[in-house]
Amino acid sequence: MAITVQENGRLFTIDTKNTTYQMKADRYGVLLHLYYGRRTAGSMEYLLTYADRGYACNIYDTGRDRTYSLDFLPQEFPTSGTGDMRSPALILEYGNGIDACDLRFDHYTVRDGKYALKGLPAVYASEEEAQTLEIVMKDISGMAEVTLLYGVIPELDIITRSVLIRNTAEEEIRVEKVMSANLDQLTGKYDLITFYGRHTMERNFQRTPVAHMEQCIGSRRGTSSHQYNPMMILAEKETTETAGGCYAMQFVYSGGFSGNAGKDQYDQTRMQMGLMQEKLSYPLAPGEEFTAPEVIMSFSGTGLETLSHNLQDCIRKHVCRGKWRDQVRPVLLNSWEAYYMDFDGADILALAEQAALLGMDMLVLDDGWFGKRNDDYAGLGDWYVNEEKLGGKMKELIYWVHRKGLKFGLWVEPEMVNEDSDLYREHPDWAMTIPGRNPVRGRHQLVLDFSRKEVVDAIFESICKVLDMGTVDYLKWDYNRSIVDVYSHTAKDQGKVLYDYILGLYDFLERLTQRYPDMLIEGCSGGGGRFDAGMLYYTPQIWCSDNTDAIDRLRIQYGTSFGYPASCVGSHVSICPNEQNGRVTPLATRGITAMSGTFGYELNPEVLSEEEKDEIRAQIRRRNELAELIHFGSYYRLSDPFDGECSAWAFVSKDRSEALINHVNLEIHGNRPVTYVRMRGLESGAAYRDTESGKVYPADALMQVGLPMPAPFGDYGALQIHLVKI
Ligand code: GLA
Repeated sequence: MAITVQENGRLFTIDTKNTTYQMKADRYGVLLHLYYGRRTAGSMEYLLTYADRGYACNIYDTGRDRTYSLDFLPQEFPTSGTGDMRSPALILEYGNGIDACDLRFDHYTVRDGKYALKGLPAVYASEEEAQTLEIVMKDISGMAEVTLLYGVIPELDIITRSVLIRNTAEEEIRVEKVMSANLDQLTGKYDLITFYGRHTMERNFQRTPVAHMEQCIGSRRGTSSHQYNPMMILAEKETTETAGGCYAMQFVYSGGFSGNAGKDQYDQTRMQMGLMQEKLSYPLAPGEEFTAPEVIMSFSGTGLETLSHNLQDCIRKHVCRGKWRDQVRPVLLNSWEAYYMDFDGADILALAEQAALLGMDMLVLDDGWFGKRNDDYAGLGDWYVNEEKLGGKMKELIYWVHRKGLKFGLWVEPEMVNEDSDLYREHPDWAMTIPGRNPVRGRHQLVLDFSRKEVVDAIFESICKVLDMGTVDYLKWDYNRSIVDVYSHTAKDQGKVLYDYILGLYDFLERLTQRYPDMLIEGCSGGGGRFDAGMLYYTPQIWCSDNTDAIDRLRIQYGTSFGYPASCVGSHVSICPNEQNGRVTPLATRGITAMSGTFGYELNPEVLSEEEKDEIRAQIRRRNELAELIHFGSYYRLSDPFDGECSAWAFVSKDRSEALINHVNLEIHGNRPVTYVRMRGLESGAAYRDTESGKVYPADALMQVGLPMPAPFGDYGALQIHLVKI
């Protein structure tokens, strides 16, 4: 049993394989957080201290007792209006500006299996794999009921959290702020690890000390964003890859979010993650309920590597769904960097021909095949095939691509519209624009109002019409701007629009996955602008970045690996000089880097030499041999590509029978000292053979001293070593 309830139904303990989480409804019914960390037994209530601290306010029930204040006690789900002056997890507005909310414990339930959330993605698991704890709290005013949900997957050290807020008043109430997870730590010195970035340079690693101030990350863009990934880690100061305690929060949501951590006046740390508060003011009629998106939490007492393994395994097995979850993804050739929008049907068929000759599995027709789409200015919204440009019907194109023994994939951007489109001319109010103001454009496009069902339905229908023209094996779902004009022309209340928009997006994606269960969907948002666990529930892979330069990718993929498995990371080989940053890297290096993701090519093979084509054929053969190990093995970060002369990482199969070391040189110098790459994750006591050279290495020496790398010669050389246990 993962969940134990003691002390008359008031002490709640969640045990996973290696961690314990505990909270207690105290004598006032306030839910105090007692503990989260390494597995331990017994009550941790002794950790609480009570004192008459200067300037601390006391809830009314405490009478003359000034030693009880929520301004310093660790709370499970703090609200505004109780004397806790730190960041609240919940602000409800009861009308007339009143936002005092004082939640007290009412009752709880425990059940096998993992809760699901209405209209929102969530971690899923079988009755044997998971348990659910629901703790129901009521505001003392009687106007709101709040259910705290905990899902537990003990084997993976995963605890998920979500919150349901029900209006039990006679009047409308409003949700003004809700953080799905709050974590109060009584003691400890921490660093906050976050992943910041920008278009074409996503998920850079940042580690800063947690200080006496609130440090926030978030997105007010309507998407999870390139700028901050919705994932953060609170790490004990001394934590490394392989040692130390660290806590993760990962948001299962694709819209605006906010995360923060800070030390309070008594050196206690609070960490939170939830919806972006700005632009959220969600009205709830009497009896209505609001569901806060889920946060995945995990604790590792053995460093960041274990923490990442927990999150990666959770995403791979309990977030991604469908047929493709457990399958090696097809090697694709994407038309974007080959032709951009300047192509005709013959060009696409020629690409398909090349893809087949090179041994690829799929041809993907990217942007430009629909409406009057020849540049950024027109066409989005008009999801009908431009037969004139293609020189034939979509059905025929699909047929010919399939005839070459390839799968066929198509690009769409369903949430967008160009002003120069039939759709916009017919339904200008379907776009989010503010009356009386010129819209703010992004990539010359506007965002469709997916908070409206009729808009979602209409786009769904027009896209399905195309998908029904033949077997479309893959769909790239793109999204290429931020939402600025938050205004729905039919909503009575604009405070609900951004959240409802995401519900509309998820509704569309859910219907799509049900209607086309065999179709592989890849998420995308100008590359990795919506790379989050919410999207991964519908799209088991996401284009990781519009930056295809192998060296920048090493860093982008390194940051991504903290929370997401390689099987989710869309990664392609492109031509050199690279079209984003002009860098020249060897084809082998580009191949090795892209292999640590879903793998594919984004170039026109016709510009390649015969030698390069041969190298690509060999690359694909090798990738296919290694794909299971890469997609389903455990990922080890062996060096920090932000700091050092090389980037090294490895995959080890779950049974430790084989491993793949990847190494890319970042620096060259004359007469350079030898670099030793130290492995991890091998079976101690065993020996491993290099499948290419036949050399045999003792596992413990590989892990303690490492493997000497050949002296680098030339820029950015790379090496892959495949080891099998003997
Ligand atoms: C975005 C994507 C690219 C490509 C273009 C097409 O930028 O990230 O991969 O699909 O759109 O317009």
